[in-house]
Amino acid sequence: MRAVDLIRKKRDGLELSSEEIAFLIRGYSEGTIPDYQMAAWAMAVYYQGMSARETADLTLNMASSGDTIDLSSIHGVKVDKHSTGGVGDKTTIVIGPLVAAAGVPVAKMSGRGLGHTGGTIDKLEAIQGFNVELEKEEFYSQVNEIGLAVVGQSGNMTPADKKLYSLRDVTATVDSIPLIASSVMSKKIAAGADAIVLDVKTGSGAFMKTLDDSIRLAKAMVDIGTQVGRNTVAVISDMDQPLGHAIGNAMEIKEAVATLQGKGPNDLQEVCLILASHMLVLGGKAASEEEAREILQQKIDSGEALDKLKKMVLAQGGDVTQIDDTSLLPEAELKIEVKSDRDGYIESIQAEEIGIAAMLLGAGRETKDSVIDLAAGVDLHKKIGDPVRIGEVLAVLHLNRQHEKGLEEARSKVLGAYGISNDRIPKRPLVFALVT
Ligand code: URA
Repeated sequence: MRAVDLIRKKRDGLELSSEEIAFLIRGYSEGTIPDYQMAAWAMAVYYQGMSARETADLTLNMASSGDTIDLSSIHGVKVDKHSTGGVGDKTTIVIGPLVAAAGVPVAKMSGRGLGHTGGTIDKLEAIQGFNVELEKEEFYSQVNEIGLAVVGQSGNMTPADKKLYSLRDVTATVDSIPLIASSVMSKKIAAGADAIVLDVKTGSGAFMKTLDDSIRLAKAMVDIGTQVGRNTVAVISDMDQPLGHAIGNAMEIKEAVATLQGKGPNDLQEVCLILASHMLVLGGKAASEEEAREILQQKIDSGEALDKLKKMVLAQGGDVTQIDDTSLLPEAELKIEVKSDRDGYIESIQAEEIGIAAMLLGAGRETKDSVIDLAAGVDLHKKIGDPVRIGEVLAVLHLNRQHEKGLEEARSKVLGAYGISNDRIPKRPLVFALVT
């Protein structure tokens, strides 16, 4: 077999066989197929697409290219959740404990943030001492004991995806639906869950800016799940504005804790309840979404959900007193208000711009090696639909003095991110579609 023949075949719109896809991924991982040939193949896929079978083959080959996690020693149906990235998305920190409190084991591997999107692992590290690197055996036994563990991805999971993703990043081939779908699903499959709930974001802060594209991506991922025997459902949720009010690591932990106490922002609480309901149904702990919601609400009201978070923090070496009293979490030295320069109603909030502003204040990474400031971030006081008066606070920037050089740019980004209309703005739906 020769790579050039497979590139030509795809360029001409033909379907590659399972053996041909395996040959490409193996050759690329081992270095016998060079970057330039893989880039040409990715571009051919960008234009010609891939069938559901090809996409599933690509996914499985990437999933098995490195370490895989075997969750079979954990009792019960293991349900994973994956969000396609966003601004202010702290859903894992709410949903993990919530679902675990309802009896579904959560053995979760999460990522770090890059650019304008945050990462769950960075957020958890805002809790003093919290260890995100457990040995496999510790990880399994913690889930068996308390029902919940959240760790960073192990060093050598899905190396073929890592290599291909880096190549796509510099060859304008990231935004191909089959390539994104196989990249995301390969990591979920390698992480070992029996069933998967996908939270596909749509809107200005998301990978997929339009609802149609988001639904197409969701369908491609659900198809892969079906083909490889993992029950998968996808919820299309709004990322046209950041989720909740807090953007920034320690600030998001505070908001997640408030949500587990039933005192969180409505949008965050609602999206978490919807995603968690699907997890309970897939995990066999509820017969319907309605029943699941009742169970979950009861776990919040009784304090069991928050208690589950505390158990995880304790088990992973974190300081539980910071959960009991979130004012003990890292706090920025400066709080700078951004005020509205006109009256009206909030029409839009460019989530990506808010994410970049938070990064400029130190909350995110510009490059893979940047050190993040756990206390920094943006607190949105106004969300879409809210009325605002001239001089009223739209948002508050939290920063430490060492990041003061980013202040002016962050301030103008936040102000520019807000669109204000003279007319009342109807509330946007939080969830647009369910793909099963
Ligand atoms: N996230 C991924 O993990 N892979 C992609 O290709 C795009 C987004």
